[in-house]
Amino acid sequence: MKVLVIGAGGREHAIAWKLKQSPLVESVFIAPGNPGTALVGKNIPIPAEDIEGLKEFAKREGIGLTVVGPELPLTLGIVDAFEAAGLKVFGPSKAASELEGSKVFSKELMIKHGIPTAHHKKFDNADFARAYVETHTPPFVVKADGLAAGKGVVICRTGDEARKAIDLIMKDKAFGAAGKRIIIEEFLEGEEASFLAITDGKTVVPLAPAQDHKAVLDGDTGPNTGGMGAYSPAPVITPALASDVMDTVMVPTVKAMEVEGRPYKGVLYAGLMIKDGKAKVLEFNCRLGDPETQPILARLESDLADALMKAVEGRLSEVKLAWSKKTAICVVMTARGYPGDYLKGAEIKGLEEAAKLKDVVVFHAGTATKEGRVVTSGGRVLGVTALGEGVADAREKAYEAVGKISWEGAHYRKDIGNKALK
Ligand code: AMP
Ligand code: GLY
Repeated sequence: MKVLVIGAGGREHAIAWKLKQSPLVESVFIAPGNPGTALVGKNIPIPAEDIEGLKEFAKREGIGLTVVGPELPLTLGIVDAFEAAGLKVFGPSKAASELEGSKVFSKELMIKHGIPTAHHKKFDNADFARAYVETHTPPFVVKADGLAAGKGVVICRTGDEARKAIDLIMKDKAFGAAGKRIIIEEFLEGEEASFLAITDGKTVVPLAPAQDHKAVLDGDTGPNTGGMGAYSPAPVITPALASDVMDTVMVPTVKAMEVEGRPYKGVLYAGLMIKDGKAKVLEFNCRLGDPETQPILARLESDLADALMKAVEGRLSEVKLAWSKKTAICVVMTARGYPGDYLKGAEIKGLEEAAKLKDVVVFHAGTATKEGRVVTSGGRVLGVTALGEGVADAREKAYEAVGKISWEGAHYRKDIGNKALK
């Protein structure tokens, strides 16, 4: 069959790369894709948010399965539009994507259905939010309700920081309509991990756990980014905790969505905070994580196309996923300045040498081609991913590959995976 992957990041390169390995897949199309996905399949210049354009393309080309990478087209209703046109598509409906699209919705669902999460209050009035801050003890976590490209969460150590965050989101409207409502949440201590599963609405199949590194600088310092690197497995998720998370978070959430009349199929991604062997949900995402997908799919031994197709057809109970015992690490290389303003257009050198290394795949994210050369075009540029016998070996291979790649202003964290060495 022909498959279509929607998106243009490292996650989508990894999805396309893995789908291409399936005997069920005859060709892969990526819309809009990047120079890395062009090595795996055919890039189609249709933006990820152009639902009508994508649907027409899928019909015309006879696409057998569409896999949606980013959250925006999901919350815009791409799955509903494709299904109405009789197309097979992997991802949650518009109503189900609210789980990521609205933090108020997801918090209220968790409270109603007894899913462990931090205490919170919601506000649609900045004065009431400020009054709440006056009468409670910091730290606080202030969150815009809607999608804010990963920037709508502010950790506030003091009341003053909380007041500034409230003003930024509600008065200055830094995230537009996404900040019409906010939640103020209890600050949770602990270690973060990403727990992802695929579901057809009934059966929930966990993916290998992973850990992301959100801060831009070593030692988890500096501003938060979309993710500076990730590894899998994540030792903080012990087999006992994984089974607990399935029983207390993943399965109950899928059931809750069914009860709420928003049956959930696709990827359910729980961002967890773990303390004393117990997990609480920080947030839900309705899609695969970026960069977690890169190490997770590097370890997947089963046929991804088969699993996603069965999820679409409601036959996920027939699927059991097999994982490599090896460790995978993805080191994200970024443009100088990211997550603030950054430079574009720098020529990237050493991609071919890095790709020649054994057990290494260089996933592209913010890259473009210019006069036959690969140049930077985004904040997160590459996800250099390696498989190794344990953390130390995977780290060594990933950083050896990183060392072969260069451009003016390239930045990366030197401590990806260190937490797993402890
Ligand atoms: P979210 O988009 O809700 O996952 O928040 C982004 C990041 O903010 C998370 O990955 C955490 O690092 C941090 N965060 C969110 N909520 C909390 C919380 N209640 N306590 C501590 N840190 C949090
Ligand atoms: N790496 C975090 C995310 O995909 O949301």
